Amino acid sequence: MEEQVYKKYGAGQVTETMLQEAAVLFSENYGVWGEQATGKFAKPGSRVRLSKDRLRSQCLPDNATCFYARVTVDGQLAGNAFACRWTVNDKTVCWVTQLVVDRNYRERGLAKGLLNQIKQNDVDIYGLMSSHPAACLAAAKAFGDSIRTLQLGPIGKYADEIMKVSPISYVKDAKLRGSVFNPSDTSGLVSSVDSGFFVDHNEPLGALAWVREETDWPLGELFDGHEFLIILEARHRSRSRPTSRPKSGF
Ligand SMILES: CC(C)(COP(=O)(O)OP(=O)(O)OC[C@H]1O[C@@H](n2cnc3c(N)ncnc32)[C@H](O)[C@@H]1OP(=O)(O)O)[C@@H](O)C(=O)NCCC(=O)NCCS
Repeated sequence: MEEQVYKKYGAGQVTETMLQEAAVLFSENYGVWGEQATGKFAKPGSRVRLSKDRLRSQCLPDNATCFYARVTVDGQLAGNAFACRWTVNDKTVCWVTQLVVDRNYRERGLAKGLLNQIKQNDVDIYGLMSSHPAACLAAAKAFGDSIRTLQLGPIGKYADEIMKVSPISYVKDAKLRGSVFNPSDTSGLVSSVDSGFFVDHNEPLGALAWVREETDWPLGELFDGHEFLIILEARHRSRSRPTSRPKSGF
């Protein structure tokens, strides 16, 4: 039987070797640039790549509290997740800034397992932007209940105030789109961001069609250069809320 091992680390514990492995995992498995991609390194059809240094500045910036979870299967790095915390109006936000599973290890619950590692007792709000419906399904299950019971209200309520003060620049700069934010939006977008990230959507659109056969998909359409936006209020089943919060475990 294969051995799955999950580990999580504070930003200061992430070594250059771990970061290099994460950059390779991303560059080999994230996806390819779409037709509308422009820029020196964004050639339509070529893989979206990240260097170790870019990954550090994007996902582990010095000005933020970040952490990292990874899973190995029989010793091989099979997937990882980066997340970042910040506080808004006394609420602790935890945002998943990257989630990638090696394509040879997908659809066996590793994304959900990684997000379970990211979960912390003192978090009030979780967030994620992703073009891949599977990332949203995994987040809805790990941080809430399921996509079927996902509430759109907290997305409309919190997105603007928490994202505009994010220490992660691409989260801060993302433009909110969809009927959750603008009731007169009839485009088919429900909860999306225009991130200007023109990754090819063939794979996520295929997944979306499949998911829609199985369940009501609450987040609407996926447009080029856009991503779904998911924000969930943490459910604190078994704890009475402390008056002073414990510090993060990292
Ligand atoms: C998105 C991604 C991380 C999912 O990883 P994974 O380990 O396969 O996901 P899981 O096995 O935990 O599955 C999560 C849910 O999505 C579903 N799912 C996974 N892949 C799917 C697919 N291709 N089509 C439809 N549903 C899919 C699973 O059935 C599961 O749903 P369930 O809990 O209702 O059963 C992986 O596909 C990936 O790395 N994609 C490329 C990078 C990317 O888009 N990352 C997100 C950016 S933040």
